[in-house]
Amino acid sequence: MPTYAADYAASLADPAGFWSGQAARLTWQRDPPRPVLSQDEDTGFYRWFRGGRLNTSWLCLDYHVANGRANQPALHYDSPVTNVRRSYTYAELLDLTARLAGGLRAQGVGEGDRVLIYMPNMPEAVVAMLACARLGAVHSVVFGGFAPPELAVRIDDAQPRAIICASAGMEVDRPIPYLPLVREALALATHQPACVVVSQRDFCPAELPEVPATVAGEAAATAPRFVDYHELLQAAPVAAVPLDATAPLYILYTSGTTGRPKGVVREHGGHAVALRYSMGAVYGLKPGETMFSGSDIGWAVGHSYIVYGPLLLGATTVLFEGKPIRTPDAGTFWRLAADYGVHVLFTAPTAIRAIRKEDPEGRLARQYDLSRLRHLFLAGERCDPATYAWAGELLGIPVVDHWWQTESGWPMLATCMGYPDALPARAGSAGHPVPGYQLEILDEEGQPVPAGTTGLVALRLPLPPGCLPTLWQDDARFQQAYLDQFPGYYISGDGGYRDAQGYCYIMGRVDDVINIAGHRMSTGELEEVLAAHPAVAECAVLGLFDELRGQVPVGLVVLKDGQTLPEAELEQQLIQLVRSRVGAVACFRQAAVVARLPKTRSGKILRKTLRQLADGEEFTVPSTIDDPAILDEIRAVLTRRGMLKEIGGSQLDPSCLSS
Ligand code: COA
Ligand code: AMP
Repeated sequence: MPTYAADYAASLADPAGFWSGQAARLTWQRDPPRPVLSQDEDTGFYRWFRGGRLNTSWLCLDYHVANGRANQPALHYDSPVTNVRRSYTYAELLDLTARLAGGLRAQGVGEGDRVLIYMPNMPEAVVAMLACARLGAVHSVVFGGFAPPELAVRIDDAQPRAIICASAGMEVDRPIPYLPLVREALALATHQPACVVVSQRDFCPAELPEVPATVAGEAAATAPRFVDYHELLQAAPVAAVPLDATAPLYILYTSGTTGRPKGVVREHGGHAVALRYSMGAVYGLKPGETMFSGSDIGWAVGHSYIVYGPLLLGATTVLFEGKPIRTPDAGTFWRLAADYGVHVLFTAPTAIRAIRKEDPEGRLARQYDLSRLRHLFLAGERCDPATYAWAGELLGIPVVDHWWQTESGWPMLATCMGYPDALPARAGSAGHPVPGYQLEILDEEGQPVPAGTTGLVALRLPLPPGCLPTLWQDDARFQQAYLDQFPGYYISGDGGYRDAQGYCYIMGRVDDVINIAGHRMSTGELEEVLAAHPAVAECAVLGLFDELRGQVPVGLVVLKDGQTLPEAELEQQLIQLVRSRVGAVACFRQAAVVARLPKTRSGKILRKTLRQLADGEEFTVPSTIDDPAILDEIRAVLTRRGMLKEIGGSQLDPSCLSS
């Protein structure tokens, strides 16, 4: 049995050799020729397995059906919000996927076309992803909590030939009709897809328009057709198209530091190899076992560990439509684990904090048979040690905090539970680098810092398979955003440190990205929205500590001269503006009016100082500040609004810094 130490060393000493070995565990339609790692001539970007041919949908479905898993459950769908539970065997999932692929092909969708998917966690969404992959079409799933303008930006960037959406999603207390949101987005977008495929939901069916109401006359000729998803399923099944390993499988948009999201690209070959490897090495899961990832298919975790990872392995995945609490109670995750015999549960610390708040004694968990649950994996945000300890005591199993990003698509730091020599996980730490990742903590000059010193978390190039090769149609942005700062490194945007025993700690973003309940949001983007309000002269959005969600955004706004709009009224208008432009998921619920914002003498707003002030952390007043008295004014406003935290160190637990 390989050890972590040996595999880690081998993955750095000879990346091509190590990943060739992992690639050999998959069935290729054409084996990747050597060398399996190459660099693009024009950009110098690394590419894995160029010249190899395979199809991810085939590996996820056809391979298992042909190898004894036809009648094994591939997916359990459990939706307490719509009162539906349904299981699909590998054979059933293959049949649906092959027929939807046939239906999409009849609508003109082919290799290289983009397909935007705007659906909640429902089996039809998973089938849609796999059907696109089957055809070589590139899917881009957009999280349902994003508002139409966000959808429109993604439509214009990805230029999809088709959009597949649900007629509605279901939040805890209300249905969310999706089709009106899609039509609003289409009215805002320049690009129009050829068709919009709608999956009808019984609780909120949508009337499919002949032509969209927003276009008439000549424009109607370019307007999309609206088609019923279930009609497409009547098509004859089609076979998987053999694809080049470097063909894009999907684009997943994530927040950058500006309002324009970044289109992270994932390629068929590297993705399949990396995910298949991670299922065993990181999660310790075997074919035939069950994984439940409490995430949404709109996020990277959902792509990798609800859909592709478990299916590539031949495992069973649980697709859950609901929340960790209130659907109907804080015992839902434990019920799912018991009902489906889950071996590995993966969720965000926020979900555990929410469960803990509702059921601090863990009474609900004790009502269920959790004997098969081996590990609880947490990611999406740093897990505070208190939550970590609570979950560990409650479940009596190893709790593993592990670190990754949309860009990597699979964990970069973890305690790799598939290896016999995995060191025990430690509260506050995301573990050790996963084989393939050469992690360094760098100072501002790009030099490695000693153990215990906080710095920029960077990865030495080449990144292993599965990580983004570039951004969708934007090599220059990829280069500038991740590679330019220190040649030879990928810069993660996170800060952290490594202790003397090699455990790594990720302490938060060093850029203008904040993390709300494990969801990434750009303060710059929110500031653009606030600044669009006619009364606002300038503003700063800060990610402030929140007990449940880790961080929540709070706006500080300066009014234009002569503006007399009462603060409460302005606050409500700003909240509505963010909901309608970005979406409810931004959780923007507080804004305060201030007379001025602290800036450097060159005019840069001191956001970090503001956040530290509001979070009650100790800080030194920057020597570059224009007028230190502004900080006292802001403290007074935050105190008046009850926004000031009394106890500092909200994000950093001192015990983690004692290394
Ligand atoms: N479609 C439409 N609206 C959505 C949505 C979706 N798919 N998802 C969330 N929203 C809305 C919610 O209804 C809520 O709206 P409101 O302001 O009108 O109440 C808002 O966005 C915030 O959503 P959420 O953070 O889910 O709030 P909540 O109070 O319903 O639930 C938690 C709180 C903690 C239970 C929830 O945030 C959670 O489960 N967090 C863990 C998330 C996670 O797994 N993240 C990791 C992803 S890898
Ligand atoms: P996303 O791309 O949306 O998955 O967000 C990635 C970001 O979430 C990372 O850059 C980190 O800031 C944060 N993150 C994810 N996992 C962890 C973790 N285990 N510990 C600390 N931060 C994390």
